[in-house]
Amino acid sequence: MVIATTITDSREELHSTFASRYARTSLPKFVMPEQPISKDAAYQIINDELMLDGNPRLNLASFVTTWMEPECDKLIMSSLNKNYVDMDVYPVTTELQNRCVNMIAHLFHAPVRVDETAIGVGTVGSSEAIMLAGLAFKRKWQARRKSEGKPCDKPNIVTGANVQVCWEKFARYFEVELKEVKLRKGYYIMDPVKAVEMVDENTICIAAILGSTLTGEFEDVKLLNELLMEKNKETGWETPIHVDAASGGFIAPFVYPDLEWDFRLPLVKSINVSGHKYGLVYAGVGWVVWRSKDDLPEDLVFHINYLGSDQPTFTLNFSKGSSQIIAQYYQFIRLGFEGYKNIMEMCMANARVLKEGLEKMGRFEIISKDVGVPLVAFSLKNSSKHTVFEISESLRRFGWIVPAYTMPPDAEEVAVLRAVIREDFSHSLAERLASDIEKVLKQVESLPSRISARAARLTSSVSDPPEEKIVAMGNFEKSVKESHGEVTKEFRNVESKKVSGVC
Ligand SMILES: Cc1ncc(COP(=O)(O)O)c(C=O)c1O
Repeated sequence: MVIATTITDSREELHSTFASRYARTSLPKFVMPEQPISKDAAYQIINDELMLDGNPRLNLASFVTTWMEPECDKLIMSSLNKNYVDMDVYPVTTELQNRCVNMIAHLFHAPVRVDETAIGVGTVGSSEAIMLAGLAFKRKWQARRKSEGKPCDKPNIVTGANVQVCWEKFARYFEVELKEVKLRKGYYIMDPVKAVEMVDENTICIAAILGSTLTGEFEDVKLLNELLMEKNKETGWETPIHVDAASGGFIAPFVYPDLEWDFRLPLVKSINVSGHKYGLVYAGVGWVVWRSKDDLPEDLVFHINYLGSDQPTFTLNFSKGSSQIIAQYYQFIRLGFEGYKNIMEMCMANARVLKEGLEKMGRFEIISKDVGVPLVAFSLKNSSKHTVFEISESLRRFGWIVPAYTMPPDAEEVAVLRAVIREDFSHSLAERLASDIEKVLKQVESLPSRISARAARLTSSVSDPPEEKIVAMGNFEKSVKESHGEVTKEFRNVESKKVSGVC
């Protein structure tokens, strides 16, 4: 790779612009180049290539923060060179982490005194937090089984089929069977009754979600707690609950303070929350807090001696940046409870603006609920000719990134679009998005259908009753569910290889 050959040539530098000096050769892709290049060239080349990335502020696929105050940006920049793990060198950063853990634990009503240190840790995101919480449950369950002289080699965890992929990762990486409560059309969260039915003596915990990734809905943790208490009483088991509050953890305490989903419920032993979602910090921070010291098995905790005192650590990795922890503390003291409340209420109000705009068009069914995370998930009432995937694709032309996806089992026949409303998404942007969606809808509908005739025959409005309808297909008769599977496949073909992930 020889992109450097012309750079040291001062004559060439004098006689040519950036483009003519560096745009002639292809960039290193596989092998590190032999020679260095100047710093301004490296900057420009990379900066130019990055122009092709989407605009993060218009990325409505993600819950993750895309705007922070310039004062906080300054703090972030000035701490980029601090490795968080060097706690004896950066004791103040460590202290800020501990303060954040305390504040989150109190926000979630952990039974700790106001001046007592809470049990928890900062992580890279909710995924790492969930791995840690899951491991703690597995260890506790194993210890209990061993003490009872019972086998402990077949742990399982009960979740809804709507869980984020990190739970599947946890299950696979840490060898725990994932028992998923299936969804159904019109009901896209874990049914607490079915979840408790699935619990057996090998269940390490039930994981409930406060703010489903797919629809933003809160699962009914209070009912789950009641049902599980009864089952535990009957069976003598001690199955606990984890709440995955990745996005809802910084919504519910401010917008729905009376909703009981957290440590107010006795079986809730740990909770994760993403600092980089509604915690309002850029990507790279999550939190997990435990109800009490007893809920985090001591053998999972490593002790680092720093400045003569003991700093317990429980993380999957070692080195990591400090900036996000510092930024989280900034947001907590900068905004306070009132500041967070104001922002979260504004996000909810802007989600309503978008929802009402969509409702006016009369073509969409709103899948998300009014109580939940500020997002709007919606599907086409009639998708026999055009799909939500085409709408998602066409919105890209306006700069909007609005993902489309099909629901998990057993609701795969439902395909939705989802727009996440963050702090930096204003009322006027919500109106603008609604009007752009209307334009796109008109354009899409004026085009010939891209769905094959066969799929068009199979598809039906999402508001059609799914049960018992039989669709003729050649010599076979297929159930509606199977047929919708075919349509989903067609949708995916229509989408060709484009993937709009949701996170
Ligand atoms: C409910 C839920 N849990 C976990 C995660 C993973 O979070 P993170 O991206 O912070 O690792 C997400 C991400 O969107 C989520 O929505």
